[in-house]
Amino acid sequence: MHSIIIFASGKGSNAAAIIEYFRTHPMATVSLIVSNKADAGVLELAKKENIPSRVIDRETLKSAEFVAMLENYKPSLIVLAGFLWKIPDEFVVAFRNRIINIHPALLPAFGGKGMYGHNVHQAVLEAGHKESGITIHYVDEVYDNGDIILQARCKVCPQDDADALAKRIHTLEHFYFPRTIEFLLSQTSDATNTI
Ligand code: GRF
Repeated sequence: MHSIIIFASGKGSNAAAIIEYFRTHPMATVSLIVSNKADAGVLELAKKENIPSRVIDRETLKSAEFVAMLENYKPSLIVLAGFLWKIPDEFVVAFRNRIINIHPALLPAFGGKGMYGHNVHQAVLEAGHKESGITIHYVDEVYDNGDIILQARCKVCPQDDADALAKRIHTLEHFYFPRTIEFLLSQTSDATNTI
């Protein structure tokens, strides 16, 4: 059984979609949820779903102890689902090619520092783009830069505000993120990465 660890800072609607998708899945399970915010909605979700959780600070994220603690869960993938801190180099090195992120726009456009949540959708609207979408990518040492695994597109409608666009993007995310995780896990046969 593959083990998935989710990192999230917010509400956790993507985390919820992933947990739901893998609830009875024979291939994988969500084994831990990590957040940088003690009041994040995703922690309520973890409690409700009986999934262990952990709140971290920046120092912890860089520490060898934290890496070792996560390795105990033998994660095949660490999934960033709305995790707002930059991932430190030490952590990227420890879990190279096992960390993926979802970004609510078509990278490389509308990525980088400060480009999260509604800022992204607002920027797409202000640029007058006719389409937007999602990007699922590997995480490397540079913000929103790692190899792209999947992009999916949606229309930007003339009457859209950031909320309306965010809603359409979330629908795409909730469909494609669990399925992309499933696809990646189906390509991973290394027994040392499974539990
Ligand atoms: C998503 O739009 C994701 O693309 C971005 O952060 C948002 C998280 O939303 N990285 P939620 O907490 O999963 O609802």
